[in-house]
Amino acid sequence: MMGASSTRSPSRWLAALLAASSLLPGVHSQYYKIETKEQIKESARTLAYDLMLYYKGNQSGEIPGILPGPPTEHKGDYYWWEGGAMMGTYVDYWFLTGDDSYNKVVMEGMVHQVGPNEDYMPPNHTASLGNDDQGFWGMSAMLAAENKFPNPPDGGPQWLALAQAVFHTQASPERHDDTCNGGLRWQVPPTNMGYNYKNTIANGCFFNLGARLARYTLNQTYADWAEKTFQWLWDVQYIDHKDWRVYDGGHVEQNCTDINKAQFSYNAALLLHGAAFMYNYTNGSEIWKERVDGLLGGIKRDFFEHGVAFEIPCEGRKGACTADMLSFKGYVHRWLSVVTKVAPYTHKTIIPMLRNSTEAAVRQCTGGETQRRCGFYWLDGVYVDPAVDKTSGAGEQMNVLAAVSSLLIDDAPPPANNHTGISKGDPNAGSRSRGARDPPKPITNGDRAGAAILTILILGSAIGTWGWMSFGD
Ligand SMILES: *[C@@H]1O[C@H](CO)[C@@H](O)[C@H](O)[C@H]1NC(C)=O
Ligand SMILES: *[C@@H]1O[C@H](CO)[C@@H](O)[C@H](O)[C@H]1NC(C)=O
Ligand SMILES: *[C@@H]1O[C@H](CO)[C@@H](O)[C@H](O)[C@H]1NC(C)=O
Ligand SMILES: *[C@@H]1O[C@H](CO)[C@@H](O)[C@H](O)[C@H]1NC(C)=O
Ligand SMILES: *[C@@H]1O[C@H](CO)[C@@H](O)[C@H](O)[C@H]1NC(C)=O
Ligand SMILES: *[C@@H]1O[C@H](CO)[C@@H](O)[C@H](O)[C@H]1NC(C)=O
Ligand SMILES: *[C@@H]1O[C@H](CO)[C@@H](O)[C@H](O)[C@H]1NC(C)=O
Ligand SMILES: *[C@@H]1O[C@H](CO)[C@@H](O)[C@H](O)[C@H]1NC(C)=O
Repeated sequence: MMGASSTRSPSRWLAALLAASSLLPGVHSQYYKIETKEQIKESARTLAYDLMLYYKGNQSGEIPGILPGPPTEHKGDYYWWEGGAMMGTYVDYWFLTGDDSYNKVVMEGMVHQVGPNEDYMPPNHTASLGNDDQGFWGMSAMLAAENKFPNPPDGGPQWLALAQAVFHTQASPERHDDTCNGGLRWQVPPTNMGYNYKNTIANGCFFNLGARLARYTLNQTYADWAEKTFQWLWDVQYIDHKDWRVYDGGHVEQNCTDINKAQFSYNAALLLHGAAFMYNYTNGSEIWKERVDGLLGGIKRDFFEHGVAFEIPCEGRKGACTADMLSFKGYVHRWLSVVTKVAPYTHKTIIPMLRNSTEAAVRQCTGGETQRRCGFYWLDGVYVDPAVDKTSGAGEQMNVLAAVSSLLIDDAPPPANNHTGISKGDPNAGSRSRGARDPPKPITNGDRAGAAILTILILGSAIGTWGWMSFGD
């Protein structure tokens, strides 16, 4: 271990002294201020600017929509899905602040990645496609419809239709089977590692889109799928029946009973967000209220235990969070803020959580040459260079942008629906793309590990070294 105080050299000691003195007023102090609305907007503006510096997609020769990557091809730290998540973050940024500086870039990126069937299955990524990867892009399109983000040109793909297309491809029979009594698999192509894993995030994205499409279109078919998918997650006990913990997933060979009990914040927050839309769609039904209450209580207890967003499975050990995990806090903040719009009775619980957590988030944005770069470790209140987690820091920056912009949620209108919205839907969207299970090209090693979210690493050798098993029961 490095950094024990007994090994400090004089120059380190000096550095520590300087760092301490920088906490004094007048020397370089906290850069971002979030007391007033104007300060929040100004802070968000700078955070949005700094995050864009990680994005190369609008430069000549680069690919619109994605952050540098994927790591499996040594092109950068980020997988395909995170570009979609970042686009969603800017759709919210514009919605909440009114600053349209990045709308053109976002529109271009989101349209560029739709793929030939307009369902977020672009050939460059179908071979390594997870339902969650496609789902994240679909949720950003859904958000664009709900936020009344400017429509793409007529004749091209439209936000609502894109969200429907993603949902319809995932509802199609070839993505469903009887193992574990139902549910979506993590991966789409059967040859992918992870095809035998049925997990919360894949089903969570599908559930979430179904809930939101139901509320937007008032088409009960979407609600039926959402209901059924949530029930499945409950039945396999990826949602703990006692205390509403949300676990990661299990394997079809074990009938999904070998539950990996890692608790990732975005799984729980994604289910809460979808449940709140169902609560709203059902005019405040008891059953969905119980689910909203259970999930929110669990999130507050586990991920905000010390009043600040904390990524339980990896944050306790610096260097243990993957690039994916390093972006989860942002989604948690954004999704929780929207829950206050569609289930307004949660406002008094959620807003103070987000406020306190955001104060800690900005406190540690003191890094880099600008002395305003953000790290991941909010609770400690001290900037830690993203290099400790082996990334350049886009996720860390995106988290804080999301948290700060979301403080403006009270002034925003609720998510639009078919009456108040402006996006065109298509009940047949996604129907051209069946057969997606057959990958169009041979799977390379790069593709295999390529898709989203963590799990291969987690299920593999990292387990022992992380003391992972302590999460086991
Ligand atoms: C890319 O977008 C950013 C942010 O809008 C802008 O500042 C920059 O000039 C753009 N670059 C190119 C090459 O268009
Ligand atoms: C697919 O990848 C190639 C090679 O990197 C790139 O040139 C092309 O622009 C990508 N297509 C899309 C739609 O992103
Ligand atoms: C939205 O509502 C209009 C009429 O109010 C209807 O024509 C249209 O089909 C609806 N769209 C969807 C996606 O439900
Ligand atoms: C409702 O959605 C389903 C699934 O997309 C579609 O088949 C059906 O036509 C839709 N119904 C209406 C009334 O739009
Ligand atoms: C698999 O688990 C489900 C509960 O998730 C149970 O209903 C079903 O009977 C189990 N099937 C087998 C073959 O054990
Ligand atoms: C919610 O209430 C509205 C207005 O009373 C009604 O038209 C609609 O059918 C209700 N929705 C559900 C899912 O019960
Ligand atoms: C549903 O959401 C709307 C905002 O879109 C809100 O005014 C209404 O109170 C919500 N319904 C319930 C039952 O909370
Ligand atoms: C707010 O966050 C601080 C850490 O920044 C923590 O010590 C405090 O307990 C939190 N307050 C509440 C009410 O959660």
